[in-house]
Amino acid sequence: MLTRRQLIKAGAATGVLAAGSASGIALAEGSGPAAADEPFGVPLRPARVLSPVRQGRGRSKGWYDVYRLSPKEADVGVLPGTTTRMRLFNGEVAPVIRATRGRPVFIEQTNALDVPFSMHLHGGHVPARYDGHPAEEVRPGGSRVFFYPNEQRASTMWLHDHSLEAHTENIYRGTVAGYLLTDEFEERLPLPKGRYDVPLYLRDAKFAADGSLVYAMDGFRDRPTLLVNGSPRPYFEVAARKYRIRLTNTSNERAFLLQLGEGDEMTHIASDGGLLPAPVSARVLEIWPAERQEVVIDFSRYPVGSKIVLGNKLAFPGEAPEVMRFDVVRTAEDPSSVPDRLRPVPDLGTPTVERTFVMSFDVATGQHLINGKPFDPERVDLRPRLGTTEIWTVTNTDTRFGIPHSMHTHLEHFQVVDRDGTARAPGEAGLKDTVTVMPGRTVRFKLKFTDYPGKFMYHCHLLGHMTMGMMGQMEVVD
Ligand code: C2O
Ligand code: CU
Ligand code: CU
Repeated sequence: MLTRRQLIKAGAATGVLAAGSASGIALAEGSGPAAADEPFGVPLRPARVLSPVRQGRGRSKGWYDVYRLSPKEADVGVLPGTTTRMRLFNGEVAPVIRATRGRPVFIEQTNALDVPFSMHLHGGHVPARYDGHPAEEVRPGGSRVFFYPNEQRASTMWLHDHSLEAHTENIYRGTVAGYLLTDEFEERLPLPKGRYDVPLYLRDAKFAADGSLVYAMDGFRDRPTLLVNGSPRPYFEVAARKYRIRLTNTSNERAFLLQLGEGDEMTHIASDGGLLPAPVSARVLEIWPAERQEVVIDFSRYPVGSKIVLGNKLAFPGEAPEVMRFDVVRTAEDPSSVPDRLRPVPDLGTPTVERTFVMSFDVATGQHLINGKPFDPERVDLRPRLGTTEIWTVTNTDTRFGIPHSMHTHLEHFQVVDRDGTARAPGEAGLKDTVTVMPGRTVRFKLKFTDYPGKFMYHCHLLGHMTMGMMGQMEVVD
């Protein structure tokens, strides 16, 4: 195997960034001396698709599926030669539910952790009582059944904890599951399917020498091990054909600016809320915590035997930038293609309400604030009306410490309108539910409250910030 130094010599993961970022976010050039770990020593762990424990037929909604997802502690092999105690759904790293629009899912859950748990379907359009509101926490040993109607359009979602005290650490310790919703519209498109449709869950972590996870809420600069589906900088054997790669960033705080090889083309096809209106050719792909980005990569342009590194251009100085490697090991038939048009964004209506959100860090208290206030579960910050379209203007005023923030809305997806008055980039033209705002910047987006009244959260998805107050609560009213 090549050493890391040889790889760098071969230019596999270095080079100056020429392209701009899709969203206009300023880029930091990163890459430095090797970390201790040797990349590409382990194969990618496939994200296992769960089978329902039961199926049934309801009186009004037809067939439904019942799954079981219970968070518990489990020992898994992550780094070679060690085991790591993690907090995992069913004791598995990133299990995946594949669901279909129009067919509801129930999830039965017992919380086997010794901390509270409040499961949230990130990206889900679900009734308030199943949304993982902190008030819905399941105590240790308690049980709950969740109901996801699946009446929204196809998209890549994920499940994670939203409990008030423990969500940041639970997510860090691994309690994450994928939730891939498809629908007829998407199924009819000739995109890669089946084993060529691959979910990848990216994150960072810090391990002690004995393999245990080291957690500090504010330790984001010191998590040098990158994991894909729980495998450290793995290699993934692919056929020389097109793949649909569904990326989800489950890190607490880390951003990735992904580059394939020397900046080889990826075709960006989807974001948080599903397919883009049209594919976008991308040389780099930016993905912040909780975001989803999907690309089609055509490996047929590489000869069998090629090894192509996926690197992170936002690595901190001194960190190894390699995320994973694609090894082209065989040829294969490829009936798939990427159509010129994918899926139009639904009409979100004409906005009649405008709201502003200022994200800031309070040095005096160490709290992160929205509009000058930390989260208060007793306070309702806004009351959107059902059927109303709103414009949200989100400004990050943290120029002094250079702290990035994001805004994530529960319940409804939104469409970015502009950034600092400049029209959105094509890669941001689809539906989103999480958007990053760099220091001194402003983003505006539009969203419509369609149905489901009740209390829902919105917050920064850099989890340390959210824990330290950067969250608000809206009550959607009739
Ligand atoms: Cu990813 Cu409030 O959630
Ligand atoms: Cu969410
Ligand atoms: Cu933040």
